[in-house]
Amino acid sequence: MSDSNPQGGERWGSRIGVILAVAGSAVGLGNFLRFPGQAAQNGGGAFMLPYFISLLILGIPLCWAEWTMGRYGGTKGFNSAPGIFQTLWRNPLSKYLGSIALLIPLVIYMYYVVIEAWCLGYAFNYLTGDLMLGADSEKYSDFFGRFVGTGADGALLTGESNLILFLLITFVLNFILIYRGISKGIESFCKIAMPIMVICAVCVLARVLTLGGEKVVAGLGAMWNPNAEYLMQPKTWLAASGQIFFSLSVGFGVVINYASYLKKNDDIALSGLTASSMNEFFEVCLGGLITLPAAFIFLGAAAKEQGTFGLGFNALPNVFAVMPGGRFFGFLWFFMLFTAAITSSLSMLQPVIAFFEEGLGLKRHASATLLGLVSAMGSGFVVYFSKGMVALDTFDFWVGTMFIFILAMIQAVIYGWVFGIQKGYEELHRGANIRVPWFVQIMLKYVTPAYLLAIFIGICITQGP
Ligand code: PFF
Repeated sequence: MSDSNPQGGERWGSRIGVILAVAGSAVGLGNFLRFPGQAAQNGGGAFMLPYFISLLILGIPLCWAEWTMGRYGGTKGFNSAPGIFQTLWRNPLSKYLGSIALLIPLVIYMYYVVIEAWCLGYAFNYLTGDLMLGADSEKYSDFFGRFVGTGADGALLTGESNLILFLLITFVLNFILIYRGISKGIESFCKIAMPIMVICAVCVLARVLTLGGEKVVAGLGAMWNPNAEYLMQPKTWLAASGQIFFSLSVGFGVVINYASYLKKNDDIALSGLTASSMNEFFEVCLGGLITLPAAFIFLGAAAKEQGTFGLGFNALPNVFAVMPGGRFFGFLWFFMLFTAAITSSLSMLQPVIAFFEEGLGLKRHASATLLGLVSAMGSGFVVYFSKGMVALDTFDFWVGTMFIFILAMIQAVIYGWVFGIQKGYEELHRGANIRVPWFVQIMLKYVTPAYLLAIFIGICITQGP
């Protein structure tokens, strides 16, 4: 691979670079906070059955479809989903459908970046020692409430721990990297960030697993012992497929965009599989072994009820308070979360930047400025209104759940029925280092849409807004 490109657009600099960038998009808060929270609330080890079924039927096939469609669109000169969809399906409707793939990442960015800033703030407060508050659960929920502004008076902490300050730093960092571009910004950062994340996570894991025999085993049991009753509930299956989408960054229009910066003969079959496998390693082997077991050691069975944010920002600080070297490990943990979150949030911004450049003809600095303004307003809205969560919840339900299933369905149909699985299969194997079994194409055409439809109906029945 090289930077040269006949169309004059941007390109990834190396194969490992694009794999790490896609894996960086996938590995994020979803792996370390959302996954353990979802598994704990949906049957522990039993959750893993629908989880792996969703991985095989939805996650990996759709991932390959997105890589294929993205690279195909890229070689025709398009990087944004509306343009790519039009090359795949010559119908006036396609560009409007493609715009869903801009809306979803943008809206998710507005929430995600706020939690990213929480992680930075927590890492900083471990460095200064202000988060070593002793073994008192209430002190941590009180700190959290004051830090994010959901405390009794709704005020934010002032001074150096002001959330707005961390939000500003996080925003600026995201936009500097985005502004630097695909190869110099996203790729260079992911190449450094991913190894750092593995090292930090493995250190925290080693610390947690050596905290003391029986408690650790009980903690692992809380995460992994199967409760088969949950398998009978549709909610478990919805949660599992939702987690697969969220975690692999599939169904958001992100992989399509990243793959469009590849060259015609760059491998996608093995790269796609490698990036997905890396994500599963982070999710199951690191996220699955750290967060809940650690929380369980301190809180016992109550850890299961903590939910995603409770686990990360309340239960774990309790654990760090009582473990030897807690301040250091606390810092490592939140620094790692922050890094994981940045490599993900960058991937939410890039599709929109590509659209501003391609669809509106803006230069990079104008696109970045415009996107900065729009997303800052959105995130300000999230911080300001996060106490009255009802409106946001409804919004989050539509964009974060419904639209993802809709977009995944659109992609499966365009790939399987419009572009065609025969053409898709040939395209997937151009320059490929492995052969993907043919039945994956059959699955993409029939099984994936049918499974998506079943889940979609399930969502409508069980969780209507
Ligand atoms: N996959 C990311 C995570 O697990 O945290 C979240 C994510 C990234 C969602 C990119 C959506 C997206 F477009």
